[in-house]
Amino acid sequence: MADQLARHAAFDLVDRMNELIRSSTTDMAPSMMRVPLEHYNSQERHERELQAMFRTTPLCAAPSASIAHPGDYTTREVLDRSLLISRDAEGEAHVVLNYCTHRGAMIANGDGCTKRHACPYHGWTFDPAGTLVGIPGAEGFAELDRSTAGLVKLPTVEAYGFIWCILDPNGSVDIEADLGEFGAELGRWGYDSFWKVAVYDHVFPANWKTTMEAFSETYHFPYVHGASIGPGVIANTATFDLFASRHHRLGAPLTPMRAHAEGDAEFDPVWHTSLLYWKCPDLMLANTPMGVEVVQVTPTLDVGQTRLRHTMLARSAPTTDEEREIALAMSVPAANAITLEDGPTLSTCGRGLSEGDHSHATIGRNEPGVQNIHEQAQRALGEIA
Ligand code: FES
Ligand SMILES: [Fe+2]
Repeated sequence: MADQLARHAAFDLVDRMNELIRSSTTDMAPSMMRVPLEHYNSQERHERELQAMFRTTPLCAAPSASIAHPGDYTTREVLDRSLLISRDAEGEAHVVLNYCTHRGAMIANGDGCTKRHACPYHGWTFDPAGTLVGIPGAEGFAELDRSTAGLVKLPTVEAYGFIWCILDPNGSVDIEADLGEFGAELGRWGYDSFWKVAVYDHVFPANWKTTMEAFSETYHFPYVHGASIGPGVIANTATFDLFASRHHRLGAPLTPMRAHAEGDAEFDPVWHTSLLYWKCPDLMLANTPMGVEVVQVTPTLDVGQTRLRHTMLARSAPTTDEEREIALAMSVPAANAITLEDGPTLSTCGRGLSEGDHSHATIGRNEPGVQNIHEQAQRALGEIA
């Protein structure tokens, strides 16, 4: 822990953040951006984005902490496919398609811990790597080469506290090439030793970019979160940096940092800052004084629908029941901010961006993170260099 704090990324940003606070401003993009509404509502364009961004790029299957122990597993829907994410007895993480090779039933639901996944239909069993290990009434399948009947594996690698996979079973996952210098930045936080507090799944009737936008600015905090977490943040004030020309970091000062900027307090990176990271295209990390909120945003096949998994991680596991209760209680306001505040707002954006008669959305110079999401989508489609 001391190590993590000593190399806290906020130390690199403290002078820039102080300057922004004193000047009541934020890092700015060079110009405003106009985003045609078809970027949010064209099904044809959506399918090209899925291919160019989501099927061919490493995605975050899960934070390592969500399946911390041998046998732990979780399931998720990604691009309308069910994924089973498991850790085997040796500690290796696997991502497989959650469909039985007998007659297709889904093997697992939710999350849990098991040495063997038993299909609920006829009881075929698979190990965490997806290998077929048992068939009731095996004489009916004497001709079956079991080595060909395992669950379909997706290329998977675990690094920096996350399990990364690529949705193409025949592809390969080169996470270092994808992250570039962003890998070292993620590595500063020691996410692989964090502890899972809680997980929430959402489905929003809005495009994936609309959903991701909400986690790339603090401009909306006084309005959407004004009666909850908003007062804790110095809104519309953040440093902005790109990594590997693709992923980004926002350095957002929290309200107690104002005293430091005015010379009245020592800088405390944990309690004074929230660093937000976007790993293009599907992962947002919001570092908080308690730990990190992991926000995984993936489209469905429908241009106007998004799935969001919100996992709260604490910096370390609790050592007593009381600490566990405190961690859970402290996670509630952040969970509610998405469930009760961002979610309903994003649903109205989904309507406005598909039903509105205006020609484009207008992204301000003060929203460089939002602009970057659109730039990366346009770059993936070959529209900009
Ligand atoms: S569908 Fe899975 S055992 Fe039959
Ligand atoms: Fe929000």
